[in-house]
Amino acid sequence: MRTFSSILVTGGAGFIGSHFIRYLSRLSDFSGKVVNLDALTYAGNLENLQDSVATLGPERYAFVQGDIADPSVVADVFDRYKPDAVFHFAAESHVDRSILGPGEFVRTNIQGTFTLLEAARRSWGCSLGKTPENRVFHHVSTDEVFGSLGDSGSFSEQTPYDPRSPYSASKAASDHLVRAWSHTYGLPITLSNCSNNYGPYHFPEKLIPLMISRIQSGQSLPVYGDGKQIRDWLYVEDHAEAIWTVATRGVLGRSYNVGGLTEWENIRLVRYLCDRMVHFLGKPAGTFDHLITYVPDRPGHDRRYAIDCSRIGDELGWKPSTPFSEGLDKTIRWYLDNPDWVARVQSGEYRDWVNKNYTTRQET
Ligand code: NAD
Ligand code: DAU
Repeated sequence: MRTFSSILVTGGAGFIGSHFIRYLSRLSDFSGKVVNLDALTYAGNLENLQDSVATLGPERYAFVQGDIADPSVVADVFDRYKPDAVFHFAAESHVDRSILGPGEFVRTNIQGTFTLLEAARRSWGCSLGKTPENRVFHHVSTDEVFGSLGDSGSFSEQTPYDPRSPYSASKAASDHLVRAWSHTYGLPITLSNCSNNYGPYHFPEKLIPLMISRIQSGQSLPVYGDGKQIRDWLYVEDHAEAIWTVATRGVLGRSYNVGGLTEWENIRLVRYLCDRMVHFLGKPAGTFDHLITYVPDRPGHDRRYAIDCSRIGDELGWKPSTPFSEGLDKTIRWYLDNPDWVARVQSGEYRDWVNKNYTTRQET
């Protein structure tokens, strides 16, 4: 098992990155330092980290507000904190936004990944045949790089790449860069391609939190196209565990598919959320069904994703542990219990929260 003393997390103020830092803060077999490098774009919210920062304490946690595509920022972080592991989450992550404005996706997801790879290669003194011990660059990627499936089959690690949106094309490019830095420069890398995550702190532009908050406020529920697209859903805490498993015990240079073994049509999921909200809010059956509204489809909308995650199961013993019904109930409960978080995110006010609560946002 690889062990680390200083971990650089990029994008740690986002949805999955913040859950990963929470996971690290609770781990008994990691007692090192966590450095969170995040630009705090619209998706970055330090409020997501309040509890983990308190658990880690100032000795074990540092935050640097900065852009992963800026070589001087990244070099400075490597010089100052000398990370022996990088967990690379930072990205533009929303497919709809990539269709409206692909430029930021190319910059952050491709240029940003390149910048981090170069900094790690230099800092760790890598060259082919001289791969350093107890170092890893773990790249967090998506199943969307594999394209779209028909009615049967699933994505394995051998499935050829076939990205179709600006988002998935930019993630595919970053995956290729990561593998190239391993093959050419001996950079110790691992890679994971995961399906749709859900859980607390999910930015309410994505399907599940968007539907929960719109049901609560009685707004229409936009279902793209015929609603029969299929996604595989994984509870975000299970993803955090999978990433740690791959980075500490996975074969260097190898990628691992991560999935929830939970394939649902979007319309089934939206109807199910309406039913569970009826239950949680104590309303009569069917109260929210009339909100479901079919809207024009997402351009180039991938039809179906499904993950064959047997490699991570067979080699590393990981499998998803949270049943969808349990994870969805926990998620709904969290959104109902945290209306202030949702309101601050929707109004953009969370940026003021950050200013008021973090006096040392930018380390000097
Ligand atoms: P997110 O949008 O919630 O968070 C992204 C974080 O990256 C934010 O904190 C943001 O401020 C930061 N960031 C963006 N641009 C940056 C830049 N230039 N420099 C520094 N920080 C920057 O994303 P997420 O849903 O948590 O996804 C995290 C990673 O996991 C991404 O790489 C994504 O492609 C991948 N992924 C996501 C899912 C999913 O279902 N959400 C599934 C598979 C893989
Ligand atoms: O598969 C992994 C990917 O999952 C990640 O790489 C991405 O970062 C993440 O955003 C997610 O991408 P999707 O496009 O699948 O997620 P999203 O929540 O945007 O949409 C899920 C499905 O629901 C998709 O088929 C589009 C549909 N949808 C979405 C929204 C926001 C709707 O029908 N209506 C909506 O309003």
